[in-house]
Amino acid sequence: MGKLTRQQDAFGRCLYDHLAGNTCGAAIERDDGFVDLLYNPAGYFSEHKAWPPHRPSTRTSSGGCGTGLRAGGVTMSKHAKWYETFFDGLYAKVLAGQFDESQSLEEARTIRKLLKLRKGQRLLDCPCGLGRITFELAKMNVDVTGADLTGPYVRRARRRAKAENVNVRFIRCDMRELPFDSELDAVVNWCTSFGYFDDAGNLAAARAAFAALKPGGKFLIEVTNKSALLPRFTPGSDGVVGGVRVVSRRRWDARTSRVHDSWTMSKGGRTERRHLRIRVFNGAEMRKLLRAAGFRDIRLFGRWPIGRLTRHSRRMIAVARRPRK
Ligand SMILES: C[S@@+](CC[C@H](N)C(=O)[O-])C[C@H]1O[C@@H](n2cnc3c(N)ncnc32)[C@H](O)[C@@H]1O
Repeated sequence: MGKLTRQQDAFGRCLYDHLAGNTCGAAIERDDGFVDLLYNPAGYFSEHKAWPPHRPSTRTSSGGCGTGLRAGGVTMSKHAKWYETFFDGLYAKVLAGQFDESQSLEEARTIRKLLKLRKGQRLLDCPCGLGRITFELAKMNVDVTGADLTGPYVRRARRRAKAENVNVRFIRCDMRELPFDSELDAVVNWCTSFGYFDDAGNLAAARAAFAALKPGGKFLIEVTNKSALLPRFTPGSDGVVGGVRVVSRRRWDARTSRVHDSWTMSKGGRTERRHLRIRVFNGAEMRKLLRAAGFRDIRLFGRWPIGRLTRHSRRMIAVARRPRK
């Protein structure tokens, strides 16, 4: 491998990573029209007969899952965005190892309390990740759907639902384009899952939640509180979560209010590098965005325990209502 260098184009990167025995994230378009993100270059180099079946790529209308190319029911840009590649691979182990069941149950109880959920109400947990909160809410007799962009998470959650015989649905979907129209009692965006896009995209995510809700329905977001983050901001960390060593190097962009974070994850002989970029909000900024999306009756809370949001609250929860008229 001596002289081999990592190429800048997707094909070159895949080739390099394949030969070096690494995994990589790359958006690809195959000769047969298949468009997807790959995390394992071996898939790219597999024999034609081993290629997964696909529906021919089509342009979507504005009413569908967005503009651009569709693959497996989800629209993807040909140029991968960080959130299209960050969560698969070793991060799945980090996510699974981060929270145990008792913590997920406690978080689901908090959600139920803040939303005053009643039996049979329809709720969307998006993004749901591996479904840790979705399952707990389903066990509380909430009519819950989990939605996430990362296909392997959705498939894993469906397998778990089947194995545990839990009445819950999982769909693969982008949070900016939810396939619900004025029909849900609540939408939950939990655990630093908001702020992944540019300003227009973040507003689009809030508007999608608004459109999915019945009049009077509620949107709940749980994220980092910028007012508490900045005084404690550190340029990096190094730790082990879910058996994965995670080395993070981060910087704060004051012009855009975004954290830029480079993660190196390693386990056994496997190493993955991923980058993320998240818009972090203070209370006033969150309120402004939710109002711009049409929400009213916006309440802001801090954790732990649930109470008034202050500059010391590390986590912020916003609960906003779609007006009845
Ligand atoms: C930090 S995880 C949190 C998951 C879950 N809420 C929890 O508490 O475990 C963020 C999730 O956002 C998903 N995601 C990233 N971009 C997305 C998008 N554009 N639309 C829907 N889900 C997305 C990722 O796949 C990942 O599962």
